[in-house]
Amino acid sequence: MKQQIEVLLQAAIEKLKQQGTLPAEVSPRIQLDRPRDKSHGDFATNLALMLAKPAKQNPRQLAEAIVAALPANDVLAATDIAGPGFINFSMNTAQLVNQLEQAWLDPQLNVGNTGAAQTIVIDYSSPNLAKEMHVGHLRSTIIGDAVARTLELQGHKVIRQNHVGDWGTQFGMLLAHMEDVKSESGDAELLLSDLETFYKAAKKRFDAEPEFANRARSLVVKLQSGDQYCAGLWQQFIDISLAHCQEVYDRLGVKLTRDDVMAESAYNGELHDIVKVLTEQGLLVEDQGAKCVFLDEFKGKEDEPLPIIVQKKDGGFLYATTDLAAVRYRAEKLKADRAIYVVDARQALHFNQIFTLARKANLAPVEMQLEHMGFGMVMGKDGRPFKSRDGGVTKLADLLTEAERRAQALIAEKGSEMTTEEQAHIASVVGIASVKYADLSKNRTSDYVFDWDSMISFEGNTAPYLLYAFTRVNSIFQKAGLQQQDVDGTFELISAQDTALANKLAQFPEIIATVGAKGMPHFLCGYLFELAGAFSSFYEACPILSAEQESVRNSRLKLAALTARTLEQGLNLLGIPTLQRM
Ligand code: ARG
Repeated sequence: MKQQIEVLLQAAIEKLKQQGTLPAEVSPRIQLDRPRDKSHGDFATNLALMLAKPAKQNPRQLAEAIVAALPANDVLAATDIAGPGFINFSMNTAQLVNQLEQAWLDPQLNVGNTGAAQTIVIDYSSPNLAKEMHVGHLRSTIIGDAVARTLELQGHKVIRQNHVGDWGTQFGMLLAHMEDVKSESGDAELLLSDLETFYKAAKKRFDAEPEFANRARSLVVKLQSGDQYCAGLWQQFIDISLAHCQEVYDRLGVKLTRDDVMAESAYNGELHDIVKVLTEQGLLVEDQGAKCVFLDEFKGKEDEPLPIIVQKKDGGFLYATTDLAAVRYRAEKLKADRAIYVVDARQALHFNQIFTLARKANLAPVEMQLEHMGFGMVMGKDGRPFKSRDGGVTKLADLLTEAERRAQALIAEKGSEMTTEEQAHIASVVGIASVKYADLSKNRTSDYVFDWDSMISFEGNTAPYLLYAFTRVNSIFQKAGLQQQDVDGTFELISAQDTALANKLAQFPEIIATVGAKGMPHFLCGYLFELAGAFSSFYEACPILSAEQESVRNSRLKLAALTARTLEQGLNLLGIPTLQRM
């Protein structure tokens, strides 16, 4: 519906340009919002306010001219000009009904076929394999997964890239430590069952024992020059560490698999060539023995030039070099139209530099979109970065176990006649869903406070609330002994609550479009919360099974079924499975 109004407004602008009311060179981005207060119509735009200045006109008059220039249509029931020059639109009910009927018949709820399908590469999760995944990896992993699923539903070809860190200098000390403990006890699997402890032990020795540190350094050199023995040890370490990650992904219900891993080490063979390309293009300079690129766009606080270091004095390559190779791979081999990086906001400068340099050096064509979708930190209630009880970083696996335990308590509190097995299943779904939802429902660009009590609760914009709302909608059908798809008849919007729910349902494709474009799942969360609220008001005010007329009963059953399908689809995009009962 939004799109239909956009088309109408676009036509009006063209007409006003021809008439000379608007200057020919304006091409405004049309913004349409859904006003909170329904007396302002279904959509509102500030277009006239935006265009008033370039058109040298009073905004209210311009708003009138825009409304007069709208082509004849059966989309709009009314338009209205409000305040300094806002234009409000009320949709024709027949249009709304029409859209709901289409959604009813479409397994994808009118979300697919958004025009041109793109090839979209999405880099997410991407932990460093030297350590176990900790709470800092939660955000990239689940935000990336939700965005990937959304783009897929929209019909794009999505290529997941788990750009794991498996090649840094830390691997030297890990291999040295592995060599020693292996000769003592032999079983690598067992030794690495707790990666965190293993890492700490290796680090301690590296800092304290010069002989160990030297051996660690020479092991990295050997590894990087292709030594068989080192490669074997390293591979063993990587395999075990990746298996730890996979366990976390499976528990989180994240779609990543081993096939999506495209590790830093995979770009090894390309790095010399990247240096060569940059040299040929005259972009590289030598600074204190290191090979660097200085771009005018990047200056430090004192206006000093900031380098992108591509090769160190000792010949070693860096994080940036690998990322340049990865951009080229995504452009040339994967043929990406768009490459998305779901990475900590603190890496903003890094990506800014990489993207700018990649364009200068022609590693990525101009048409390819490069987007860093940054996110803030997970904070504790004390306002400091979230820590475990002993003050260390919180392992993701432990965090999930605690979530399940807390959800179990919440479920038990509610009292239930379900078997312990079923309760345990529900607790596990609710616990993991709560952690994910609490994160996904916050604007990713800000830091957020991790708070068990508010996330594992049936109140507010939480996973338990939405999961429960879904079971309530379903129970209507169970009570009636009906299958959702067996309801027939058409949508009849006879009360304010019917219409309010219908309007919310019709908004779903718009929300999905926003999430896909901006990579911001919190818009979807907010929407699902509002949808559940609209359903509650509808359920309280409108008799469904006891509606007098059969046609009204059918319409309301269809609204309920569409609500259930929309909630389920929405939660699925967030990687949250629904429950039949709770
Ligand atoms: N491994 C990196 C880290 O943990 C994140 C990698 C993100 N992806 C990328 N292409 N640089 O900070």
